[in-house]
Amino acid sequence: MDKIRWGILSTAKIGLKQVIPGIQAGELGEVTAIASRSLDKAEVAASSLGIEKAYGSYEELLEDPDVACIYNPLPNNLHMEWTIKAMEAGKHVLCEKPIGLTVAEVKEMIRVRDRTGLKAGEAFMVKSNPQWIETRERVRRGEVGEPRLIQGMFSYYNTDPSNIRNIPELGGGGIWDIGCYCATMSRYIFEEEPTRLVSLLEFDPDMKTDRLGSVIMEYPSGQTIFSVSTQLVPYQRMHILGTKGHLEVKIPFNAPKDRECTVAQDIGSILLDKITTHAYPVADQYTLMSEAFSKAILSDGEVPVTLEDALNNTKVLTAIFDSAKSGQWVNIN
Ligand SMILES: NC(=O)c1ccc[n+]([C@@H]2O[C@H](COP(=O)([O-])OP(=O)(O)OC[C@H]3O[C@@H](n4cnc5c(N)ncnc54)[C@H](OP(=O)(O)O)[C@@H]3O)[C@@H](O)[C@H]2O)c1
Repeated sequence: MDKIRWGILSTAKIGLKQVIPGIQAGELGEVTAIASRSLDKAEVAASSLGIEKAYGSYEELLEDPDVACIYNPLPNNLHMEWTIKAMEAGKHVLCEKPIGLTVAEVKEMIRVRDRTGLKAGEAFMVKSNPQWIETRERVRRGEVGEPRLIQGMFSYYNTDPSNIRNIPELGGGGIWDIGCYCATMSRYIFEEEPTRLVSLLEFDPDMKTDRLGSVIMEYPSGQTIFSVSTQLVPYQRMHILGTKGHLEVKIPFNAPKDRECTVAQDIGSILLDKITTHAYPVADQYTLMSEAFSKAILSDGEVPVTLEDALNNTKVLTAIFDSAKSGQWVNIN
């Protein structure tokens, strides 16, 4: 079986450190080309990662007839533009989160995908990780009773003004960068869409990006509350509470690929010796995601995170900014 030939749009850190090695560790894909605004940077990346071709512009990569699928890890404000350009050039596209910064952007990508018949999806690797797939199965099997409350936290400390996360014009800020994970994983577990939310955001006085934020979301079956920060100690956790039990995903987002992850489960007791720990063997969530995407192309199946799912997440994220601005509850439709 032919492997899917991937081309990488830019020398973004996430590509060089995680996604390219992730594709290379899989069986269904290979990375044959990488592009940068600087040919030097593309050549250095290509030689260090064993990639055959290096291009000094993104356009040249899209013109490469040997490339079937583009991985797009550009700054958030460029996701739509280059995802659409890639599809117009006949390429499938796996684009980093958040795939769009407005609902209109995601709708436009859906239109182009439908017209071209190509595969396009958002790179939420967490949804390919067995710890989350099994956590959702536990909830579906009723192991926590009726799920009613999801609580999330995600933070790191980064005050570098040149980092894309700290530049509002590039789509920076905590909600776009990490709030997107809490929103999408609470939707993933509830398996329904929130109806309204209220939020509170604090902005960095100099960089103007949101650096501390908290959100309450109402779902038909319950509530999610989450907080994120770009200027707090690195931390992440998600809790799922039901009428009978509780699940705690210990490293919900940046699951390491060199050691196991754990999910704690208790059924109505707060005593530490009553807690069961589920351990998940070492897994590379970037390999699992890219393999699932390559498989969707090869078998004409569904991509791991669809643009329709991305559209619903974008509705939540844009509502968070609307609510913070107005100080009011905002309906999500
Ligand atoms: N799924 C995950 O686990 C995960 C983790 C981290 C980040 N991400 C996402 O991946 C994307 C990239 O994040 P990153 O931290 O890897 O970013 P990064 O290292 O800053 O890379 C962004 C790349 O975009 C290119 N670029 C084009 N125009 C640019 C501009 N005006 N300013 C800066 N860079 C520009 C540059 O590549 P060239 O110079 O080579 O053209 C740059 O290397 C973001 O969307 C982020 O949300 C996802």
